[in-house]
Amino acid sequence: MGWGLRNRMSRIIRPETGRSVMLAVDHGYFMGPTTGLRDLGKAVKDLLPYTDTLMLSRGMLRNCIANTTSTPIVLRASGGTSIIGKELLHEGITMTVKNAVRLNAAGVAFSICVGTDFERNTILGLSRLIDEAEEYGMPVVAVTAVGKGLGKDERYLSLSSRIAAEHGAHIVKTYYCEGFDKVIESCPVPVVMAGGQKLPESEALEMTYNAIHGGAVGVDMGRNIFQSEDPVAMIQAVREVVHKNATPKEGLQVFDELRARKPLENE
Ligand code: R5P
Repeated sequence: MGWGLRNRMSRIIRPETGRSVMLAVDHGYFMGPTTGLRDLGKAVKDLLPYTDTLMLSRGMLRNCIANTTSTPIVLRASGGTSIIGKELLHEGITMTVKNAVRLNAAGVAFSICVGTDFERNTILGLSRLIDEAEEYGMPVVAVTAVGKGLGKDERYLSLSSRIAAEHGAHIVKTYYCEGFDKVIESCPVPVVMAGGQKLPESEALEMTYNAIHGGAVGVDMGRNIFQSEDPVAMIQAVREVVHKNATPKEGLQVFDELRARKPLENE
């Protein structure tokens, strides 16, 4: 791994703890305006101080995020289908790595759809992106897509994560499942956990704790943060669990305390 690639990796995964709280707000690239992200700039502004890495599309970066930000950026580099189309997540490469470099990205992200009719295209797309990214020292986050007809169990997520790593992904983003430690055991690159659909805060913190203690280096979480009743309190609670090894109970305490303090701050 060259210096540039290592340097970018250390911007994504914090060297102080070897962990990362990535905030995923890229949902619009196939879902359009998503609950909690209709005004992306506003949704993200107060979360940035607690975000190790922000994951989004280049269009939202250019239009909604100040170019003075010091938060490292991972850019969504795959797409091509939408939630109303016939082939959800049949994705190809949507931007060049050169463009990601111009936007000062710390990484790019690409989804693979193992087990679907178009798995071949997505796996070959990932490999092509990795070839190009390595020329620039740019890490690639491979996202193991889940969806209708695709499993979300240990067998499926181990298979997808391992395939992503075999093709050269530098980081794998996958979902939590029973037996998550087995997913980690067979995947030789750092794994971050996607949050999935909105859960009660206590459950999301529990899942975060289990993922970290199952061997994930962090989270790349979206809806469980930006759709929380109090996103700023939630991201700080997630940080406690990820960076400070807090238990889910301690994390929830942080969430409750921060929520309760809010009216006082506004007085
Ligand atoms: C993944 O492909 C999506 O674009 C999101 O980045 C991902 O699902 C993480 O967000 P959430 O925690 O809301 O699932």
